[in-house]
Amino acid sequence: MGDNIISTNKLSITLGKKKILKDITFEVKEKEIFGFLGPSGAGKTTTIKLLTKQFIPTSGECMVQVPRESIGILSDNSGAYERLTVYRNLSFFAELSKVSNKKVEEILKKVKLWEDKDKKVKDLSKGMRQRLLLACAIIDSPKLLFLDEPTAALDPATTEEIHELLLNLRKNGTTIFLTTHNMEEADILCDRVAFLNKGEIVELGNPKDLKLKYAKDTVQILFDDDCVLDVKCDVNSIMKACKENSSKKIKSIHSQEPNLAEIFLSLTGRELK
Ligand SMILES: Nc1ncnc2c1ncn2[C@@H]1O[C@H](COP(=O)(O)OP(=O)(O)OP(=O)(O)O)[C@@H](O)[C@H]1O
Ligand SMILES: [Mg+2]
Repeated sequence: MGDNIISTNKLSITLGKKKILKDITFEVKEKEIFGFLGPSGAGKTTTIKLLTKQFIPTSGECMVQVPRESIGILSDNSGAYERLTVYRNLSFFAELSKVSNKKVEEILKKVKLWEDKDKKVKDLSKGMRQRLLLACAIIDSPKLLFLDEPTAALDPATTEEIHELLLNLRKNGTTIFLTTHNMEEADILCDRVAFLNKGEIVELGNPKDLKLKYAKDTVQILFDDDCVLDVKCDVNSIMKACKENSSKKIKSIHSQEPNLAEIFLSLTGRELK
């Protein structure tokens, strides 16, 4: 991981009379997938709008170290030309960015829309539409990609296809800033995540480190009679529990790491929905 591609310093914005983002400071490193997680209304889309200069901060700063033409965006109001075909839509974007027709074919195959290239956008399913929007966002091989809930309301199979694609993009050097409410998605994809709650970052880190940080200090022992014991995580307590149950066999011993959704809940008292 290299330099910072995005950095913000006490970034704040007030819209109407409401302070939407309050002094948020974070960095996004080159070639990482950075997850911005928070419930509806937390300020995720607003942050993307600030980073892509659609909004001006009320105070604080944000810096994005790539030129505008090297940025791809899939936002919640991205749209395609409904009466044109899939192919025509993408080739239109390709012409704007002076990208070859060969690349159009390559990207349509990548997002698994090649077979549907002659369908009109108005006849596409939600998942196909989302894959087309993603294709439009990546046709120009962006260095930095903003994705605002790229898999919201998609079925598990399409979601998985999009995840595979994003991991491949990262492998090829694209930095990705992604918002989601989906903690499993964040866990699978993100090198680091920031938890946003009511316009403030309440935690930031690598998912694995966060799970360790918030792990309970107990282990769960499952015996062969299906009896389950939560035992304090020190050798004496574990030995004592084992001695007291010495007539049984142990089926499993698990440390109790919370998932990201549980960590968010314990920090904020709120679900991520
Ligand atoms: N142009 C605007 N004018 C006034 N308020 C706005 C504007 N845009 C967003 N807001 C408010 O800012 C807050 C954060 O909105 P934002 O769209 O950033 O949330 P979000 O985290 O993306 O939520 P979701 O998960 O539902 O997409 C909300 O209270 C919203 O009403
Ligand atoms: Mg949003």
